[in-house]
Amino acid sequence: MIVTVLKEASANEKRVAATPATVERLIKKLGFQVRVETNAGSLAGIADEQYIEAGAEIAPSASDALQDAAVVLKVRAPIVRDDGTDEIALMPENATLISFIQPGQNEALLKKLQARPISTLAMDMVPRITRAQKLDALSSMANIAGYRAVVESANLFGRFFTGQITAAGKMPPAKVLVIGAGVAGLAAIGAARSLGAIVRAFDTRPAVKEQVESMGAEFLELSFEEDGTGEGGYAKTMSKEFIAAEMQLFKEQAQEVDVIITTALIPGKAAPKLILEECVDMLKPGSVVMDLAAEAGGNCVFTEKDKVVERKGVKIVGFSDLPSRMAPTASQLYGMNLVHFLDDLGGAENFQLDLEDEVTRGALVTHQGEITYPPPKVERLVPKLEPAAPAEEPEPQTEAEPLFGPGDLKRLSLVGLGLLLAFIGFVAPATFVGHLTVFVLACFVGWQVVWNVTASLHTPLMSVTNAISGIILLGAMHQVSDHKLLEGSWLTDPVTILGVIAIVLAAINISGGFLVTQRMLKMFQK
Ligand code: NAI
Repeated sequence: MIVTVLKEASANEKRVAATPATVERLIKKLGFQVRVETNAGSLAGIADEQYIEAGAEIAPSASDALQDAAVVLKVRAPIVRDDGTDEIALMPENATLISFIQPGQNEALLKKLQARPISTLAMDMVPRITRAQKLDALSSMANIAGYRAVVESANLFGRFFTGQITAAGKMPPAKVLVIGAGVAGLAAIGAARSLGAIVRAFDTRPAVKEQVESMGAEFLELSFEEDGTGEGGYAKTMSKEFIAAEMQLFKEQAQEVDVIITTALIPGKAAPKLILEECVDMLKPGSVVMDLAAEAGGNCVFTEKDKVVERKGVKIVGFSDLPSRMAPTASQLYGMNLVHFLDDLGGAENFQLDLEDEVTRGALVTHQGEITYPPPKVERLVPKLEPAAPAEEPEPQTEAEPLFGPGDLKRLSLVGLGLLLAFIGFVAPATFVGHLTVFVLACFVGWQVVWNVTASLHTPLMSVTNAISGIILLGAMHQVSDHKLLEGSWLTDPVTILGVIAIVLAAINISGGFLVTQRMLKMFQK
C-alpha cells in the first residue's frame, strides 16, 4: 500500500507532512511503502537522501509521486500549483487524502474532492477528545504557534523580557497579556514566563484559571458571571455585555502591559474583535500586539493577515504561518500525528475508514463521492434517556414531611458529639483525655494547613508528611533494648522483633518521603 508525501506548493509553507523519522515508522511499524516527491522537505531542512536512508522512494514530480497512491499526506489543502499542476486531478480515484482542509470555509474544494472522488480526512476536524490527543494536529501546531508568537514578539519588542539590574541601570521586566488561554495561549504563557516576563492571562472559560496559575501567570477575572465553556473543550460565543466588560478590562491592562498576545477564537466563527482603537491607543509606543487569530479575521481591529502594521509606534502583527516558521519541529510533530492516525486506521494491513469510529467520522469530509461534512453530532457524557412510559393513573401524592430537616440533623449531631465528649471526660482516665485533646487539635490544625495549600502541591506535601510521620522510628528505637540485641536473645522477644521491623519500615518511610518530595519540588523549580 503506497503512501505519498507531496511537496507543499502553497506560498509561505515550509512544513512537510513526513520527516525521515516518521517515514521510518510508516514503513517499519505500519507496513506502508512510502514515496516522497523530490524536494518535499527542502524548506524544512530535510534532504531527499535522508528520506531514502529512512526507506522511502523519491519521485521526481507530483504526478510520479501520486501514481497508484492509496494514501496522500499533505499539510495544506491540495491546490493547483503555479506551474498548472492540479494536485487533486493527479490523485488516483478513491485514494485517501489526509491534510488540513478547513471544510467550513472551502466548499469549492470539497466539491472538487467529492467529484474526483477522493476520501478526505481533515486534520483540523479531528475531535478534541482524550483518545484522539495523539493525532490532534491543531493542538500540536497551536502549541508551536504560541511559543513562536513570543519569540516573534520578543524580536519586535525593543526591550528585555526579563528584568535586569546592571551597572548601567535597572531594566524592568516586560509585562505580557495573553488573551485566550487555549493550547496556543498556554504555550505563549510558558514561553513568556521562561523569558522572564510578568504574564497575565484572560479567558472566558474559568476552568483554565488553575492551568494559567500553575504556569506562573496571573489570571485576570471579571466581576461578571458568565461561563464561556462550550462543547468539546472549546469556548462558546459570549454575550455582548460580557465582551464589553472584557474589552474594558483590556483597555485598563493596555496602560500597563508591553506585549499583548491574543488567541481568542471559537472554532468555525470569525474571531471576536476584542482590541479596538482605544485599546491600541492606550499602549505605549514600542509595544507589540501579536494577533494569532489573524487567519480568522483577527482579534484586533488593525490586524492585517501576514503583515506587521504600525500605529503610533505600536506594532500589530498578523502572522498566520507561525508553525511554518519552525518547520523542522512542526513537520516532525505533524508527521507523528499522521503516523498515529494511520495506525488508528489499521496500518497497511487492515486499512479502513470506519464510519462508526467517532474520530474517523469526525475528520471525514468527503467519502465515496459524497460530502460527509459536517459530521453528525455526537452525544457524549449525558446518556440518552428513553422517555419514561406514561404512568397509568398518577395517584395524587401528599409529600410526607421529613421528621428532621438537614439543619436539624446537623444540630443534633453536634449535640450528640458534645454529650459523647462530656461522657468521655467523666469516665476516661486523665491521660486519655489529654491525648484526645491533642488528637482533635492536630486534626483541626492539619486540616486547616492542608486546606490552604495549592492543590498542585498536595503530593509533595503528602510525601513530606509521610517522612515526618516516620517519627515512629523514635518509639521503635525506644522499644528495642540494646542488651537484648547484643545478647542475641532478641529473636525470642516479640516486642524487640516488632521494634526492629518498625525501625526498618520507618527508615524507608522517612528517606522515601524526602526523596519523593525532592523530586516533586524539582518539577516546580526552573
Ligand atoms: P483554543 O480553542 O484551544 O483556544 C482559544 C481560546 O480562546 C479558548 O481557550 C477560548 O476559551 C478563548 N476565547 C474564546 N473567545 C474568547 C474571548 N472572547 N475572550 C477571551 N478568550 C476567548 O485554540 P488554540 O488551538 O489555542 O488556537 C488559538 C488561536 O491560534 C486560533 O485563532 C488559531 O487559529 C490560532 N493559530 C494561529 C496560528 C498562526 O500561525 N497564527 C497557528 C495555529 C493556531
